[in-house]
Amino acid sequence: MLLWREKVPDSWLPKVRANLPAVLIDHAHLERKAATAALNLEKYVELHDCVSELNAIAIEELQHFELVLRLLRERGVAFTGPVKSPWISAMMGQVRKGRREQVIDHLVVCALIEGRSCEKFQLLAEGVRDLDPGLADFYASLVESEGNHYATYLIMARHIDLAETERRLDYFLDLDAQLIRQPHPLPMLH
Ligand SMILES: [Fe+2]
Ligand SMILES: [Fe+2]
Repeated sequence: MLLWREKVPDSWLPKVRANLPAVLIDHAHLERKAATAALNLEKYVELHDCVSELNAIAIEELQHFELVLRLLRERGVAFTGPVKSPWISAMMGQVRKGRREQVIDHLVVCALIEGRSCEKFQLLAEGVRDLDPGLADFYASLVESEGNHYATYLIMARHIDLAETERRLDYFLDLDAQLIRQPHPLPMLH
């Protein structure tokens, strides 16, 4: 896993622990958006050789979405509308327009979203065990898959343009660190 330039703030886990139903709804939407993100990447001609690989990620994310919906049902939590993540919005907002710029940036941001999810699921696997052991097991089971998605997106970007990917990874890691230093109070994963 890559070296983040700022760690998840200490305030994040208590916030999530205090709002598990809201976080689960947010997580369901996160998986739904991860599936659509994989499909959206298929519009780039640079990724046309990767369509089957992207479909496989989309299918996996939809399976995760279904699993989260089941957890919601088991816990009597209604699936309600999405809340915008300030972190994701700010990261996506820096994706540049223009053919090659856009595909590289889009892949790098998708990779970092997957990477932060992987890291946070690891924290949750330990951090909610006393509250909900079934949920803790579920988070532990997602870590490898989201870590693979992170690596796959980064490999795809590097394959298109190695130097530009490293340059933009440097930029987005700085942005991530800057955003993480200003935590928001919303009960969500990102
Ligand atoms: Fe997922
Ligand atoms: Fe993922």
